[in-house]
Amino acid sequence: MAKTVEAVTEGLSPALREKMVLALDVDDLVEAVRLARQLSPWFGVAKVGLELYTAAGPDAVGSMLDNGFDVFLDLKLHDIPTTVGKAANVCGALGAKYLTMHAHGGSDMLKAGVEGLRLGAHNAGMPDPVAVAITVLTSDGDAPAHIVPNRLRIAVEAGCGGIVCAGADLKDARELSPRTMRIVPGIRAAGADPHDQPRPITPREALEEGADLLVVGRAVTLADDPARAAAELFGELESDEE
Ligand code: C5P
Repeated sequence: MAKTVEAVTEGLSPALREKMVLALDVDDLVEAVRLARQLSPWFGVAKVGLELYTAAGPDAVGSMLDNGFDVFLDLKLHDIPTTVGKAANVCGALGAKYLTMHAHGGSDMLKAGVEGLRLGAHNAGMPDPVAVAITVLTSDGDAPAHIVPNRLRIAVEAGCGGIVCAGADLKDARELSPRTMRIVPGIRAAGADPHDQPRPITPREALEEGADLLVVGRAVTLADDPARAAAELFGELESDEE
């Protein structure tokens, strides 16, 4: 018999909440803060991506920290090693807990990013952050099948503590590098509009397949009632805890 999906109206347990990353893909910091506060019972991590960072800069990171969120700074850095290292240093000093960079940038670039991030955080008295490698963009339909394992290997050897991968790649990633954090976008309730996500996955499936962080955006942020949408999306998880 299919499980009834209850709504988790009061929010998630602390252990689940810290795995949920809210993608604040908006170009206005006031709107981002409003959304983040409204959804804070379900999300412990705020993702600041290119759109919000371009609009609001480091204030976007500071505002989310001030509101009690860990910050996932999704800048997808990709440049020469020196430049990535210096930019990552700044991101570490800002207090980002996670910073993304493209594995496509290669080993030297990733190493520079990892070290810059670590030093930036260390010199600012922050805990060690996590450098996160993007394995392959979901929009890259031409990417060959072996690319995720190859990029995972490069990322791990360079010292990255996490990777972003599709739900469908979780099993391989877990087997290849069990200690590397696995971060998964494309989270949707079963049968919900996938938007432009080619390989959506439900929260329950993602956790069962070994995801450490779940990135959730439009499934809640575009809803008429984002809090209600979050409560329903995560309802299937609460029934696990009963
Ligand atoms: O689809 P959703 O709004 O939940 O996307 C959340 C995050 O997933 C985005 O901020 C982006 O980083 C990532 N994304 C992706 N592939 C897409 C669209 C978005 O990995 N096709």
